[in-house]
Amino acid sequence: MARKLMHAVQYDCYGGGAASLKHAEVPIPTPKKGELLLKMEAASLNAFDWKIQNGVARPFLPSKFPYVPGTDVAGEIIEIGQGVKDFKAGDKVVAHLSHLNGGGLAEFAVANESLTVTRPPEVSAAEGAGLPVAGLTAHQALTQAAGVKLDGTGKQTNILITAASGGVGQYAVQLAKLGNTHVTATCGARNIDFVKSLGADEVLDYKTPDGAALRSPSGRKYDAVVHCTTGIPWSTFEPNLSDKGKVIDITPGPSALVTFALKKLTFSKKQLVPLLMNAKKENLAYLVKLVKEGKLKTVIDSELPLSKAEDAWAKSIDGHATGKIIVEP
Ligand SMILES: NC(=O)c1ccc[n+]([C@@H]2O[C@H](COP(=O)([O-])OP(=O)(O)OC[C@H]3O[C@@H](n4cnc5c(N)ncnc54)[C@H](OP(=O)(O)O)[C@@H]3O)[C@@H](O)[C@H]2O)c1
Repeated sequence: MARKLMHAVQYDCYGGGAASLKHAEVPIPTPKKGELLLKMEAASLNAFDWKIQNGVARPFLPSKFPYVPGTDVAGEIIEIGQGVKDFKAGDKVVAHLSHLNGGGLAEFAVANESLTVTRPPEVSAAEGAGLPVAGLTAHQALTQAAGVKLDGTGKQTNILITAASGGVGQYAVQLAKLGNTHVTATCGARNIDFVKSLGADEVLDYKTPDGAALRSPSGRKYDAVVHCTTGIPWSTFEPNLSDKGKVIDITPGPSALVTFALKKLTFSKKQLVPLLMNAKKENLAYLVKLVKEGKLKTVIDSELPLSKAEDAWAKSIDGHATGKIIVEP
């Protein structure tokens, strides 16, 4: 490629939030063995992106400064590295970049073929870019931790999804409803109709007493909770769980980890399951296929240009998005 430099958004130290993101001209990366160079069409933000900036995974992440954040991307392949067999220049793809290297908030990014899937024309770049972290987390929580079968077979399961209006929650509601489930969801008052439109059977406003107590309006006890917010103690979950109910906590803090250990050690039937997303290519391909077939959608909170990446970053930190925040070069 004749062009050597690209526009990227990066930070060069821990902390500082949106104000410490810097726009820079940096070298276009070169794909190594098994890698693909993408011309970016869209990237989506996740809370973990700014948590890394805050130092949550210090000293491992970021691997070096300056760091271009962003791991969930859609783009067109313009160059392939050595040994790549399944892709060629011109292919449209969705990819999950490693947190170690990031790279999403830029005009070009390098993806590993092991976490890259083809994006069919029915799936827009923004819809595709929303999927990796949020979609795979919802998928893993439901299928692996809660045991829901997304082909609709399996026994009826009562699921509670907290923060159902957020990036992970919106996918979790839609995916859960592909299975044989009854879904109770929590969100703010302004999003109740929206979350019902995703398929939730009953929706609680988290700012009401019943919502804060997570009490199912139909009196159901939950077999699994996909817990997508923070700050709810075990004592609130416990009376709402069925005999072998599980709370799948995707943001487990110290008290959740203590509960996890205690429940294990005491052979409690009710369990807390801390979950860390483990990205798998076949699952990402499955999610893209569901979007193509119209069985899953990416709800988009906002689409901002790369030149306004700091506004997207601030919005993500603010924690009030409805769906995914997308950045486009
Ligand atoms: N374990 C993993 O691998 C993994 C993967 C992905 C994400 N996560 C974590 O999961 C969490 C959620 O991520 P996300 O991307 O879904 O967040 P998000 O998109 O920022 O969530 C925002 C939404 O949450 C709603 N909300 C906030 N507090 C709530 C409450 N108490 N009850 C109900 N709804 C509430 C907000 O509604 P209002 O605006 O009405 O308040 C807003 O719509 C983050 O902490 C993230 O780090 C973990």
